Amino acid sequence: MICARFTPFFSFAWLCSIVLAIPPRRGYQPGLKPRHLKSTLRYARLTKFNSSTHQPSFSLPSHNTIVRPTNQLSQHVIEVHFNNIPRYLLLDTGSADTWMISPDFQCLNSSYAAVPQSDCAFGDPYTGPEIHQTRNETYDQVYGTGEVLFGTYGQAEVTIADLTVQNQKVVLVNRGYGLGDHVRSGVIGLAPRAVTRLFENTNASTSQPNGTVTTYSPIFESMYSYTAYGQDPIAPLFSLALERGEGGGYIAFGGLPPINFTHDFTFTPFKGINYYGSYDPGRYYPIQPQGFSLNGQAEATDYRAIVDSGTAANRLPQDIADRVNAAFNPPATYYPSLDLYVTVCNATVPSFSFSIGDEVFAMSPADMFLPLSSNGLCATSFTRGFEFASDAYPEGFYVLGDAFLNSVVAVFDVGAGGMWFAMHDY
Ligand SMILES: *[C@@H]1O[C@H](CO)[C@@H](O)[C@H](O)[C@H]1NC(C)=O
Ligand SMILES: *[C@@H]1O[C@H](CO)[C@@H](O)[C@H](O)[C@H]1NC(C)=O
Ligand SMILES: *[C@@H]1O[C@H](CO)[C@@H](O)[C@H](O)[C@H]1NC(C)=O
Ligand SMILES: *[C@@H]1O[C@H](CO)[C@@H](O)[C@H](O)[C@H]1NC(C)=O
Ligand SMILES: *[C@@H]1O[C@H](CO)[C@@H](O)[C@H](O)[C@H]1NC(C)=O
Ligand SMILES: *[C@@H]1O[C@H](CO)[C@@H](O)[C@H](O)[C@H]1NC(C)=O
Ligand SMILES: *[C@@H]1O[C@H](CO)[C@@H](O)[C@H](O)[C@H]1NC(C)=O
Repeated sequence: MICARFTPFFSFAWLCSIVLAIPPRRGYQPGLKPRHLKSTLRYARLTKFNSSTHQPSFSLPSHNTIVRPTNQLSQHVIEVHFNNIPRYLLLDTGSADTWMISPDFQCLNSSYAAVPQSDCAFGDPYTGPEIHQTRNETYDQVYGTGEVLFGTYGQAEVTIADLTVQNQKVVLVNRGYGLGDHVRSGVIGLAPRAVTRLFENTNASTSQPNGTVTTYSPIFESMYSYTAYGQDPIAPLFSLALERGEGGGYIAFGGLPPINFTHDFTFTPFKGINYYGSYDPGRYYPIQPQGFSLNGQAEATDYRAIVDSGTAANRLPQDIADRVNAAFNPPATYYPSLDLYVTVCNATVPSFSFSIGDEVFAMSPADMFLPLSSNGLCATSFTRGFEFASDAYPEGFYVLGDAFLNSVVAVFDVGAGGMWFAMHDY
């Protein structure tokens, strides 16, 4: 997820994945409410499947649901049920906890003072049967958007697509600084258990959790774990076919999404990013692109990046971000206050591709700008890595975000220990 404060030079206060002040554009549906999903004409079998490639687990059934764009098309939500209560949750492969706000959610402003619940602009809270807190397990998360959320853990029956997991650990968030869009009521975190945020804390109600962090099985692990799952287990993978603009796309658990695509998959293993000196491939979904090509000039790289559906931009090492942005005409300039590069919306865009595995994935010109603009100025979809504490991430923290995912069918194959990518046909 991204977010940055706008300078007064611009006409609105925030430029982030959460853009409260931008007038609604075509496709924005402020009244969007959860609805039951049904298959559409767009559900179809794959037209191409290369069986000579080693893709064993793809033969298992897939369970699909529609991904819906929201927040001026800058974020994606899916419908998730806690105890049969449907809500839209932000689809985030860059965090691991799944939560909804509680009915008594206390909204905080950026200086952590209590303000009316409506100021946080979340969708409807969870309103089902009471979810009892499990012992003294508390949740505390700071997202890349600047959002800060606190809550308590309990157990709920969680349904996504046509899959139901019983007794899944979930969070009811009862306090926090949120930047909602009147649609999403929380987050579904699909990252692995290594990045769950469960704290043991004897005083969960008000004090900041400072106890032991205990990992637990997040929703996706529960879906493929035979012991946790009441029905047949799914293959330990999910796949994401985002479609830019109003399409949204699909997520499929256990198999491939119901879209046509004609390209073969390439595989790239999870390669851990340096976190306090260790490289755990199970922290997030980290990969190592082979390189990139900018206006036809190819170059090898050795940075690693997480694949994150919750971040709109690609966040790359600064020298690469500088060069890509300099190749816009007129060039895009870095605004520290935004943490984004900005140029005129009608700038000529460079050609850019990532090489991953043994394939080249060209970014579409349609994905070169974030869907945010003001006064004819636009933010590009390439910026610098997150500036997290350098003792935690000494090699930086880089992201392949939605700007990249829009062009591919991405398979998060936990069972095989890596990602498959194929170009997504439009
Ligand atoms: C997928 O391809 C089949 C065969 O060409 C076609 O009938 C179907 O309409 C296509 N589906 C989509 C969603 O494009
Ligand atoms: C299937 O994949 C193999 C190995 O990557 C490749 O040699 C072959 O050409 C592919 N077949 C088709 C029909 O694309
Ligand atoms: C937060 O709310 C408090 C109390 O209403 C107010 O004094 C403070 O200025 C607010 N802070 C911001 C950043 O809006
Ligand atoms: C709450 O957490 C503390 C700290 O880990 C632990 O010692 C205590 O046993 C827990 N209490 C309960 C009731 O689980
Ligand atoms: C929890 O913390 C709050 C504020 O920090 C305090 O008022 C309250 O007494 C504490 N509760 C317990 C049981 O320690
Ligand atoms: C946790 O917070 C409490 C209250 O603020 C403090 O007394 C305690 O020492 C802290 N524990 C740790 C491990 O930091
Ligand atoms: C962008 O638009 C401005 C005026 O709206 C025009 O002057 C300029 O030439 C355009 N630039 C490009 C690269 O098309």
